[in-house]
Amino acid sequence: MDYFAFQPDPTDHDRATLWCEGVHLRNLAESVGTPLYVYSKKTIIDHARRFVEAFAPLAPSVHYAAKANPSLEVLRLIVAEGLGIDVVSGGELERAWLAGCPVDRVVFAGVGKTEREIRAALDGRFSPFAAAGERGIPDPAQRGPVGRFNIESEGERERLAAIAAELGVVAKAALRVNPNVDARTHEYTTTGLTENKFGVPAERATAFFERAAELPSVTLEGLHVHLGSPIYEVEPYAQGIEVVLGVIDQLAAAGHRVSHLNLGGGFGADYETGKSPWARDYARVLVPMLEERARNGLRIGLEPGRTIMANAGVLLTQVQYVKQNQIQGAAGKRFLICDAGMNALVRPSLYKAFHFAWPIECDAARVPSERVESPTLPGLSTADVVGPLCETGDLLAKDRLLPDVAAGDVLAIYSAGAYGRSMAMTYNEHPLPAEVMVSGEAWRLIRRAGTPMDLVRPELGLGTP
Ligand code: LLP
Repeated sequence: MDYFAFQPDPTDHDRATLWCEGVHLRNLAESVGTPLYVYSKKTIIDHARRFVEAFAPLAPSVHYAAKANPSLEVLRLIVAEGLGIDVVSGGELERAWLAGCPVDRVVFAGVGKTEREIRAALDGRFSPFAAAGERGIPDPAQRGPVGRFNIESEGERERLAAIAAELGVVAKAALRVNPNVDARTHEYTTTGLTENKFGVPAERATAFFERAAELPSVTLEGLHVHLGSPIYEVEPYAQGIEVVLGVIDQLAAAGHRVSHLNLGGGFGADYETGKSPWARDYARVLVPMLEERARNGLRIGLEPGRTIMANAGVLLTQVQYVKQNQIQGAAGKRFLICDAGMNALVRPSLYKAFHFAWPIECDAARVPSERVESPTLPGLSTADVVGPLCETGDLLAKDRLLPDVAAGDVLAIYSAGAYGRSMAMTYNEHPLPAEVMVSGEAWRLIRRAGTPMDLVRPELGLGTP
């Protein structure tokens, strides 16, 4: 469920146009320009609430995974909903804090935390902003340590303990267990197999806790598990939970109490209509597995990102050229060459991920009732929706049935609210697109469009050796 919908055009009943809540997207694209990410505030809040409600019987602590979309405005909305934030880098930590998240509501995950990042996460005096004295940024010196570190390796445990000891603080931590469970998702987004770089195998958990017990600057109090994303089945979660509950019991037998169990994220989103389970579908299976433990004091944590943000955003991109490539005289491929491609949404190139694409204005008879690969509507023909970059893999949609589209038309690439802007790049010197938050009939620019000057500024005035 989201708040992007076609409405009949009031001036021409044979035409329909796409709206986000109460905002007409053609007008928005004309005012701000393309490429442009557009987010629906109502959808974000709705998804966050549905998620929290679904798992309410476990009274979980929910940390939004900032990597899905770390826009300050998105983080502010999430924090106002009472959620914490899951960060995986010093940069995400600073954003969470700038967005007003108390750092004790931040969980710091990530497989490669540097010394510098750990220092800043334990003591705000080491924040990059503390030294920079940036205008408009409050002094982080007073902030304490983050709520919890999710430790991914023995080396990280030792590094964390040493830095915390040096700073005279105690770091709260959880061990990320790699349960060797197949999440049955793309090989690049599977994280819970032994062959993946994440976490520590379950067999090493007891030794891991034993050593941590010798380290007064670290309180190891939890387990963390994240299987991959998106996970469209509930079964892998059930398998993962069985493994970690077994680890908790093993640890208890060895005298180590685990008070927190963080189940990670990976909950799906409807990139295609009806494809993903809803939060309540996951909860229906997971809650009964954990209810008794929760009643007995085990605190459950969850880290959703995509399920909140994916369908809360679209990418608007303008068609620059329509090109028909002839193949041996026969009508060949139709390409819609747009002003954005993998630079603004890399998921189709990187994972062959499906994102529904449709012009924001079309005949009323061509309004799609479902977001699917092959809509059953009259008068469609196949095209590739591609970007301007010098890469054959620069595409947003491949072999897709679409209505007639002309140069100048604007397409909506759906489900771009998660891992769109956060994975955007500036390849071929394309600046980052602007971002807009819609709320009812109002909209606000929440990030201005990048400029070529943004890209060259760090190099100016440095001279030659
Ligand atoms: N927690 C941990 C430890 C994670 O590694 C991730 C995602 C999440 C939570 C949030 O997962 P979500 O609920 O958003 O699915 N860039 C890829 C996905 C890789 C996500 C990596 N970790 C994509 O575009 O699909």
